[in-house]
Amino acid sequence: MSIKRVLVTGGAGFIGSHLVERLLAEGLEVTVLDDFSTGSTKNLASVEGAVGVIRGSILDASAIGEAARGAKCVFHLAAIVSVPRSVQEPLLVDEVNCRGTLMALEASRREGAKFVFSSSAAVYGDSPELPKTEAMAPEPVSPYGAQKLAGEAYVRAYAASFGMEACSLRYFNVYGPRQDPTSPYSGVITKFLRSALAGEDLTIFGDGSQTRDFVYVQDVVEANILAMRARTCGEAFNVGTGASVDIERLAGEIAQEAGQGSIVRHAAPRAGDIEHSRCDPSRAARDLGFRSKVGIEEGIARTLEYFRSG
Ligand code: UD1
Repeated sequence: MSIKRVLVTGGAGFIGSHLVERLLAEGLEVTVLDDFSTGSTKNLASVEGAVGVIRGSILDASAIGEAARGAKCVFHLAAIVSVPRSVQEPLLVDEVNCRGTLMALEASRREGAKFVFSSSAAVYGDSPELPKTEAMAPEPVSPYGAQKLAGEAYVRAYAASFGMEACSLRYFNVYGPRQDPTSPYSGVITKFLRSALAGEDLTIFGDGSQTRDFVYVQDVVEANILAMRARTCGEAFNVGTGASVDIERLAGEIAQEAGQGSIVRHAAPRAGDIEHSRCDPSRAARDLGFRSKVGIEEGIARTLEYFRSG
């Protein structure tokens, strides 16, 4: 099936806006559906006029129906991505993250479109087993993780029930330009870069031995493009690098790179933090042909450049 038109829900967000740029560069017609609650028009400044933007909620049947019209692939990124918020307001967040996914799947089914769902490593919960493989039983510990897992289950069910070509992408720790540095929920790299550029101290929660599999946003975009082109039948894929970095080293490197004399300090461990996270990237490599290309040094340098010039 040749794909001409695509829909990106949450296309004005951090990851969505990078995906939109790439899809346009591939010569596709792109529509964005976003309610701009966390997304911003600034993120789409480089593609203004080249992309159709519908301001509306994923829960609004007419908005999603209109946005999906004629689309042959739906990338579903619209979500409330905050774990703490999902703990504070599980019902409200469930509406967007579960019902919203179902709405997007329905619109996709009507159009006979492929479906690529943005899921999260949060589905794995805090089991100590490493690396995380898709064959492991998911055991989410936050409502957010449970909601992403519910979305994945629907993706699988739509593939099985309706023959929809669909898959879920489990993102590990994504970072890069446009991640909102002012949000209390932004990732550690973005937080550290912002503080380091301002010459402020970097605070590590705990002893800094905890590790994460940090994946650069452009690699996440690449995984989405490959998922659009692959034949999929409802399965989930890890999207990470397969390598991990400890937070102590990360803080030291960022402080040094920024060159503003920031000091690295330690505070009490953060409640609910997991110790280590790293993916097994082999299923995505085998079935999608996905391999992350941007290493941590390169990714940090690019993101630093973005925050410096912005
Ligand atoms: C990430 C995701 C979360 C997902 C989870 C699944 C982000 C922003 N969050 O959480 O949505 O549910 O993976 O595993 O990607 N840290 C500090 N100092 C700081 C900030 C953080 O030391 O100022 C430490 C944290 O304690 C943690 C590590 O850095 O150990 C990473 O934190 P963070 O970027 O918030 O991501 P996760 O907790 O892994």
